[in-house]
Amino acid sequence: MFVFETVRELRKWADGQASEGARIGFVPTMGALHEGHASLVRRAAAENDLVVASVFVNPTQFDDPADLAKYPRTVEHDIETLRRAGCHALFLPSVGEIYPEGRDVSVEVDLGGLDLVLEGAHRKGHFQGVVQVVHRLLDIVRPDRLYLGQKDFQQFAVCKRMVEQTGLPVELVRCQIVREPDGLAMSSRNVRLSPAARAEAPRFYAALCRLAEELARGTALAPAVAQTAAELDAPPFSLDYLQVCDPDTLRTLDALRPGQQAVILATVRLDGVRLLDNLMVG
Ligand code: PAF
Repeated sequence: MFVFETVRELRKWADGQASEGARIGFVPTMGALHEGHASLVRRAAAENDLVVASVFVNPTQFDDPADLAKYPRTVEHDIETLRRAGCHALFLPSVGEIYPEGRDVSVEVDLGGLDLVLEGAHRKGHFQGVVQVVHRLLDIVRPDRLYLGQKDFQQFAVCKRMVEQTGLPVELVRCQIVREPDGLAMSSRNVRLSPAARAEAPRFYAALCRLAEELARGTALAPAVAQTAAELDAPPFSLDYLQVCDPDTLRTLDALRPGQQAVILATVRLDGVRLLDNLMVG
Protein backbone atom coordinates (compact mmCIF):
# COMPACT_ATOMS: atom_id res chain seq x y z
CA MET A 1 0.00 0.00 0.00
CA PHE A 2 1.27 3.46 -0.93
CA VAL A 3 1.17 6.21 1.68
CA PHE A 4 0.94 9.75 0.27
CA GLU A 5 1.25 12.79 2.50
CA THR A 6 0.85 15.48 -0.15
CA VAL A 7 -1.80 16.29 -2.72
CA ARG A 8 0.90 16.41 -5.41
CA GLU A 9 2.13 12.84 -4.71
CA LEU A 10 -1.39 11.44 -4.54
CA ARG A 11 -2.48 13.18 -7.77
CA LYS A 12 0.58 11.98 -9.64
CA TRP A 13 -0.20 8.36 -8.72
CA ALA A 14 -3.99 8.71 -9.27
CA ASP A 15 -3.52 10.40 -12.67
CA GLY A 16 -1.35 7.48 -13.75
CA GLN A 17 -4.01 5.00 -12.62
CA ALA A 18 -6.83 6.98 -14.26
CA SER A 19 -4.96 7.03 -17.58
CA GLU A 20 -5.08 3.22 -17.48
CA GLY A 21 -8.84 3.32 -16.86
CA ALA A 22 -8.76 2.22 -13.19
CA ARG A 23 -11.93 2.90 -11.21
CA ILE A 24 -11.33 4.21 -7.73
CA GLY A 25 -13.39 3.66 -4.57
CA PHE A 26 -12.70 6.16 -1.79
CA VAL A 27 -13.08 5.66 1.98
CA PRO A 28 -12.55 8.88 3.96
CA THR A 29 -11.82 8.40 7.67
CA MET A 30 -10.53 10.22 10.70
CA GLY A 31 -8.39 7.25 11.71
CA ALA A 32 -8.65 5.14 14.90
CA LEU A 33 -9.83 2.49 12.48
CA HIS A 34 -11.91 -0.50 13.48
CA GLU A 35 -13.70 -3.35 11.77
CA GLY A 36 -16.41 -0.95 10.53
CA HIS A 37 -13.84 0.98 8.49
CA ALA A 38 -12.20 -2.25 7.30
CA SER A 39 -15.58 -3.43 6.00
CA LEU A 40 -15.93 -0.21 3.96
CA VAL A 41 -12.49 -0.81 2.43
CA ARG A 42 -13.31 -4.44 1.64
CA ARG A 43 -16.55 -3.44 -0.07
CA ALA A 44 -14.78 -0.69 -2.03
CA ALA A 45 -12.11 -3.23 -3.07
CA ALA A 46 -14.79 -5.65 -4.28
CA GLU A 47 -16.56 -3.00 -6.36
CA ASN A 48 -13.61 -1.02 -7.81
CA ASP A 49 -10.15 -1.56 -9.32
CA LEU A 50 -8.42 0.45 -6.61
CA VAL A 51 -9.20 1.73 -3.12
CA VAL A 52 -7.94 4.99 -1.70
CA ALA A 53 -8.54 5.74 1.98
CA SER A 54 -7.76 8.95 3.83
CA VAL A 55 -6.89 9.43 7.48
CA PHE A 56 -7.38 13.06 8.45
CA VAL A 57 -8.74 14.35 11.76
CA ASN A 58 -10.61 17.32 10.36
CA PRO A 59 -10.46 20.26 12.77
CA THR A 60 -13.31 22.16 11.09
CA GLN A 61 -15.95 19.60 12.08
CA PHE A 62 -15.24 19.75 15.84
CA ASP A 63 -17.19 22.37 17.76
CA ASP A 64 -15.33 21.48 20.95
CA PRO A 65 -11.51 21.86 20.98
CA ALA A 66 -11.31 19.36 23.88
CA ASP A 67 -13.07 16.73 21.75
CA LEU A 68 -10.60 17.38 18.91
CA ALA A 69 -7.64 17.08 21.29
CA LYS A 70 -9.00 13.82 22.76
CA TYR A 71 -9.75 12.24 19.36
CA PRO A 72 -7.73 8.98 19.26
CA ARG A 73 -4.74 8.98 16.87
CA THR A 74 -3.41 5.54 15.98
CA VAL A 75 -1.60 5.93 12.65
CA GLU A 76 0.53 2.75 12.74
CA HIS A 77 -2.50 0.63 13.60
CA ASP A 78 -4.53 2.41 10.88
CA ILE A 79 -1.91 1.69 8.21
CA GLU A 80 -1.91 -1.99 9.15
CA THR A 81 -5.74 -2.19 9.22
CA LEU A 82 -6.01 -0.59 5.77
CA ARG A 83 -3.28 -2.77 4.31
CA ARG A 84 -4.96 -5.95 5.57
CA ALA A 85 -8.38 -4.82 4.28
CA GLY A 86 -7.00 -4.44 0.75
CA CYS A 87 -6.48 -0.67 0.47
CA HIS A 88 -4.12 0.39 -2.32
CA ALA A 89 -3.27 3.93 -1.28
CA LEU A 90 -3.56 5.91 1.92
CA PHE A 91 -3.79 9.69 1.83
CA LEU A 92 -2.39 10.97 5.13
CA PRO A 93 -2.30 14.74 4.77
CA SER A 94 -1.38 17.47 7.25
CA VAL A 95 -3.86 20.24 8.09
CA GLY A 96 -1.85 22.61 5.87
CA GLU A 97 -2.19 20.25 2.91
CA ILE A 98 -6.01 20.17 3.19
CA TYR A 99 -6.42 23.82 4.14
CA PRO A 100 -3.49 25.61 2.46
CA GLU A 101 -2.89 29.09 3.82
CA GLY A 102 -4.25 31.81 1.60
CA ARG A 103 -6.43 29.46 -0.44
CA ASP A 104 -10.20 29.43 -0.03
CA VAL A 105 -11.40 25.83 0.01
CA SER A 106 -14.84 26.62 1.41
CA VAL A 107 -17.89 25.29 -0.41
CA GLU A 108 -21.25 27.02 -0.62
CA VAL A 109 -24.12 24.54 -0.78
CA ASP A 110 -27.74 24.72 0.22
CA LEU A 111 -28.13 21.74 2.53
CA GLY A 112 -31.86 22.41 2.85
CA GLY A 113 -31.62 22.44 6.65
CA LEU A 114 -30.37 18.81 6.79
CA ASP A 115 -27.33 20.12 8.67
CA LEU A 116 -29.31 21.96 11.35
CA VAL A 117 -31.36 19.15 12.91
CA LEU A 118 -30.39 16.19 15.14
CA GLU A 119 -26.53 16.13 15.38
CA GLY A 120 -26.45 19.57 13.75
CA ALA A 121 -28.57 21.06 16.53
CA HIS A 122 -26.16 19.66 19.14
CA ARG A 123 -22.87 20.36 17.33
CA LYS A 124 -22.86 23.84 15.81
CA GLY A 125 -21.12 23.99 12.43
CA HIS A 126 -20.29 20.26 12.48
CA PHE A 127 -21.83 19.42 9.11
CA GLN A 128 -20.45 22.56 7.47
CA GLY A 129 -17.02 21.21 8.44
CA VAL A 130 -17.86 17.71 7.16
CA VAL A 131 -19.12 19.11 3.84
CA GLN A 132 -16.01 21.25 3.48
CA VAL A 133 -13.56 18.40 4.07
CA VAL A 134 -15.46 15.76 2.07
CA HIS A 135 -15.72 18.18 -0.86
CA ARG A 136 -12.02 18.97 -0.62
CA LEU A 137 -11.06 15.28 -0.41
CA LEU A 138 -13.30 14.40 -3.38
CA ASP A 139 -11.68 17.22 -5.32
CA ILE A 140 -8.23 15.80 -4.51
CA VAL A 141 -8.89 12.05 -4.88
CA ARG A 142 -11.51 12.27 -7.70
CA PRO A 143 -12.94 8.80 -7.04
CA ASP A 144 -15.70 7.05 -8.95
CA ARG A 145 -17.40 5.92 -5.72
CA LEU A 146 -17.49 7.28 -2.18
CA TYR A 147 -18.09 4.82 0.67
CA LEU A 148 -19.68 6.06 3.89
CA GLY A 149 -21.11 4.13 6.83
CA GLN A 150 -24.78 4.15 7.79
CA LYS A 151 -23.79 4.71 11.41
CA ASP A 152 -23.47 8.41 10.59
CA PHE A 153 -26.86 8.41 8.89
CA GLN A 154 -27.20 12.19 8.86
CA GLN A 155 -23.65 12.63 7.56
CA PHE A 156 -24.56 10.42 4.59
CA ALA A 157 -27.71 12.46 3.89
CA VAL A 158 -25.74 15.73 4.09
CA CYS A 159 -22.95 14.45 1.81
CA LYS A 160 -25.50 13.12 -0.68
CA ARG A 161 -27.12 16.54 -0.80
CA MET A 162 -23.71 18.23 -1.22
CA VAL A 163 -22.83 15.92 -4.13
CA GLU A 164 -26.22 16.57 -5.78
CA GLN A 165 -25.83 20.33 -5.33
CA THR A 166 -22.25 20.55 -6.57
CA GLY A 167 -22.65 18.02 -9.38
CA LEU A 168 -19.44 16.19 -8.42
CA PRO A 169 -19.25 13.04 -10.57
CA VAL A 170 -19.16 10.49 -7.76
CA GLU A 171 -21.54 7.70 -6.74
CA LEU A 172 -22.32 7.49 -3.03
CA VAL A 173 -22.49 4.07 -1.39
CA ARG A 174 -24.08 3.71 2.05
CA CYS A 175 -22.68 0.71 3.96
CA GLN A 176 -24.39 -1.11 6.81
CA ILE A 177 -23.46 -0.52 10.45
CA VAL A 178 -20.94 -3.01 11.80
CA ARG A 179 -21.69 -4.02 15.39
CA GLU A 180 -19.84 -5.69 18.23
CA PRO A 181 -21.23 -9.15 19.09
CA ASP A 182 -23.27 -7.52 21.89
CA GLY A 183 -24.89 -5.04 19.46
CA LEU A 184 -22.90 -1.88 20.22
CA ALA A 185 -22.23 -0.03 16.96
CA MET A 186 -18.49 0.09 16.27
CA SER A 187 -17.04 3.56 16.76
CA SER A 188 -13.61 5.09 17.25
CA ARG A 189 -14.98 6.65 20.43
CA ASN A 190 -15.82 3.30 22.08
CA VAL A 191 -12.23 2.90 23.33
CA ARG A 192 -12.85 5.87 25.63
CA LEU A 193 -15.52 3.98 27.60
CA SER A 194 -14.46 2.62 30.99
CA PRO A 195 -14.92 -1.17 31.36
CA ALA A 196 -18.04 -0.55 33.49
CA ALA A 197 -19.54 1.83 30.90
CA ARG A 198 -18.61 -0.53 28.06
CA ALA A 199 -20.62 -3.27 29.81
CA GLU A 200 -23.70 -0.98 29.96
CA ALA A 201 -23.34 0.37 26.39
CA PRO A 202 -25.24 -2.44 24.56
CA ARG A 203 -28.42 -1.38 26.41
CA PHE A 204 -28.53 1.59 24.01
CA TYR A 205 -28.96 -0.53 20.87
CA ALA A 206 -31.23 -2.98 22.70
CA ALA A 207 -33.60 -0.10 23.58
CA LEU A 208 -33.65 1.05 19.94
CA CYS A 209 -34.42 -2.51 18.78
CA ARG A 210 -37.36 -2.73 21.20
CA LEU A 211 -38.66 0.61 19.90
CA ALA A 212 -38.33 -0.54 16.28
CA GLU A 213 -40.27 -3.71 17.11
CA GLU A 214 -43.04 -1.73 18.87
CA LEU A 215 -43.37 0.61 15.90
CA ALA A 216 -43.38 -2.26 13.40
CA ARG A 217 -46.22 -3.82 15.47
CA GLY A 218 -48.24 -0.63 15.06
CA THR A 219 -47.84 0.86 18.57
CA ALA A 220 -48.54 4.61 18.55
CA LEU A 221 -45.32 6.51 17.89
CA ALA A 222 -45.37 9.23 20.55
CA PRO A 223 -45.84 7.04 23.68
CA ALA A 224 -43.38 4.41 22.37
CA VAL A 225 -40.73 7.09 21.75
CA ALA A 226 -41.41 8.69 25.13
CA GLN A 227 -40.92 5.37 26.92
CA THR A 228 -37.61 4.64 25.16
CA ALA A 229 -36.46 8.23 25.74
CA ALA A 230 -37.14 7.85 29.47
CA GLU A 231 -35.15 4.59 29.51
CA LEU A 232 -32.20 6.24 27.73
CA ASP A 233 -32.27 9.35 29.88
CA ALA A 234 -31.67 7.52 33.14
CA PRO A 235 -28.23 6.79 34.66
CA PRO A 236 -25.76 5.75 33.40
CA PHE A 237 -27.12 7.28 30.16
CA SER A 238 -28.18 10.79 29.36
CA LEU A 239 -30.09 11.37 26.17
CA ASP A 240 -29.19 14.04 23.63
CA TYR A 241 -32.02 13.12 21.24
CA LEU A 242 -34.22 10.28 20.10
CA GLN A 243 -36.29 10.91 17.00
CA VAL A 244 -38.11 8.93 14.38
CA CYS A 245 -37.53 10.61 11.03
CA ASP A 246 -38.18 10.38 7.34
CA PRO A 247 -34.99 8.73 5.98
CA ASP A 248 -34.62 11.22 3.09
CA THR A 249 -35.64 14.58 4.53
CA LEU A 250 -34.77 13.77 8.18
CA ARG A 251 -38.02 15.49 9.17
CA THR A 252 -39.35 14.24 12.50
CA LEU A 253 -42.44 12.08 12.13
CA ASP A 254 -45.22 12.14 14.68
CA ALA A 255 -47.08 9.14 13.29
CA LEU A 256 -46.32 6.18 11.04
CA ARG A 257 -48.57 4.86 8.31
CA PRO A 258 -48.57 1.04 7.99
CA GLY A 259 -45.46 0.00 6.04
CA GLN A 260 -43.99 3.52 6.03
CA GLN A 261 -40.18 3.65 6.02
CA ALA A 262 -38.62 5.59 8.87
CA VAL A 263 -35.34 5.77 10.71
CA ILE A 264 -34.84 5.95 14.47
CA LEU A 265 -31.92 8.25 15.19
CA ALA A 266 -30.49 8.63 18.68
CA THR A 267 -27.49 9.92 20.57
CA VAL A 268 -26.74 9.29 24.23
CA ARG A 269 -23.90 10.22 26.51
CA LEU A 270 -22.32 7.49 28.56
CA ASP A 271 -19.26 7.97 30.73
CA GLY A 272 -18.58 11.31 28.98
CA VAL A 273 -18.64 9.65 25.52
CA ARG A 274 -21.30 10.46 22.91
CA LEU A 275 -22.68 7.30 21.31
CA LEU A 276 -24.67 7.51 18.07
CA ASP A 277 -26.88 4.84 16.61
CA ASN A 278 -29.77 4.40 14.21
CA LEU A 279 -32.15 1.76 13.03
CA MET A 280 -34.51 1.54 10.06
CA VAL A 281 -38.19 0.79 10.64
CA GLY A 282 -40.55 -0.62 8.02
O1 PAF B 1 -17.09 10.00 9.37
C1 PAF B 1 -15.95 10.48 9.48
O2 PAF B 1 -15.01 9.81 9.92
C2 PAF B 1 -15.72 11.90 9.07
O3 PAF B 1 -16.79 12.72 9.38
C3 PAF B 1 -15.30 12.08 7.60
C4 PAF B 1 -16.40 11.63 6.65
C5 PAF B 1 -14.05 11.27 7.33
C6 PAF B 1 -14.99 13.54 7.31
O4 PAF B 1 -13.98 14.02 8.13
